[in-house]
Amino acid sequence: IKRVRIAHLREAKERGERWPMLTSYDQYSAAVFDEIGIPVLLVGDSAANNVYGYDTTLRVDLDEMLPLVKAVTRATSRALVVADLPFGTYEAGPAQALESSVRLMKEGGAQAVKLEGGQRMRPQIEALTHAGIPVMAHIGFTPQSEHMLGGYRVQGRGEAADSLVADARAVCEAGAFAVVLEMVPGQVAKRITHELAIPTVGIGAGPDCDAQVLVWQDMAGLRPGRTPRFVKRYADLNTVLGKAARAFADEVTSGAFPAAEHTFQQ
Ligand code: KIV
Ligand code: NA
Repeated sequence: IKRVRIAHLREAKERGERWPMLTSYDQYSAAVFDEIGIPVLLVGDSAANNVYGYDTTLRVDLDEMLPLVKAVTRATSRALVVADLPFGTYEAGPAQALESSVRLMKEGGAQAVKLEGGQRMRPQIEALTHAGIPVMAHIGFTPQSEHMLGGYRVQGRGEAADSLVADARAVCEAGAFAVVLEMVPGQVAKRITHELAIPTVGIGAGPDCDAQVLVWQDMAGLRPGRTPRFVKRYADLNTVLGKAARAFADEVTSGAFPAAEHTFQQ
């Protein structure tokens, strides 16, 4: 099967076809999503929370991201694999962004990178695209700036809509092949989606984006506890896994496992 390329995503937009994106951080989830035809997989810095157990994405670094990027790229043959640039690995300028992106692509095998920020990231996006590195931008609520933004809150409401639209235009003009819109009013996401030639990927951005992304453990209900409003749980893996582990534990305790069929004979 042929690898999904950034041109295919642009063509999908022209045809008015919506597409799904999921995060992935390990080989089995990546292989399942690749197999069922999810065209774009994101090795997100949300690995900070979903893999490493940090309380914020700010804590994860490039050396922690790289093994996950390698696992996902090794396990996929069709999906376009995008890797997040972690906090602190691209803000200093184009040179730093280029150095970090090269590691994600050369060592990790990623086919594109993602970074957070709109107008202020123009120089980085231009430098990367000139170097042949496809860039997915990420605007609206940007988790790496949570302390500046005052926590997890909707961006681009009311007066702020125009500056969000300006961010979207800026990343598009700088050469981004797609843009994630996180936690923005549906009407603003719709306006941006209509205006831009590149695909918009929504998360908490309503139904009018060209694509939708969710963290896979949220989508599949592996993450316990309260989920944000924009998440839909399509399964309850947390309960499934708990039940399997409980059944195993009970059978070990009772002696029911291992049975004869699990036991080698002389
Ligand atoms: O890190 C992440 O998971 C993300 C997406 C949810 C867009 O950036
Ligand atoms: Na991210």
